[in-house]
Amino acid sequence: RQVAERTQAVVEDLAGLEGPLLPILHEVQKEFGCVPDEALRTIAEELNLSRAEVHGVMSFYHDFRKEPTGRHVLKICRAEACQSMGGDALADGVRSALGIDWHETTPDGRVTLEPVYCLGLCSCAPAAMLDGELHGRLDEAAMSELVKETGR
Ligand code: FES
Repeated sequence: RQVAERTQAVVEDLAGLEGPLLPILHEVQKEFGCVPDEALRTIAEELNLSRAEVHGVMSFYHDFRKEPTGRHVLKICRAEACQSMGGDALADGVRSALGIDWHETTPDGRVTLEPVYCLGLCSCAPAAMLDGELHGRLDEAAMSELVKETGR
């Protein structure tokens, strides 16, 4: 109920814009940390769109998520330069250490793992970003240090 009401308020504010869907999704995600199903339903109803249409836009832009992230967000670069420097193996290590896959959050809500495609740090590959902070030239030890940081 509350989600629907708060979403409705956001839609009312922004529905007058040309192409209001993206700004509405951004605002809803700011409000709830994600775009929950109930909000998606409300947005679709209010804008006279099908749920599939709203969902399609959400998955086209990778910024939107259906569940809130963990307390930390670890993004590991999966683009070419990082891959060629052993990024895949590093990422595999992280996934098995945390017991989660891409886009997932550990059950204790500690960290969410996201792939990212180039962080602009190719000359310092392999690279990752923890809570918005860039880290380059990662090896296994440095990466497990980053993972440890999420537990603090
Ligand atoms: Fe990883 Fe550019 S490819 S930072």
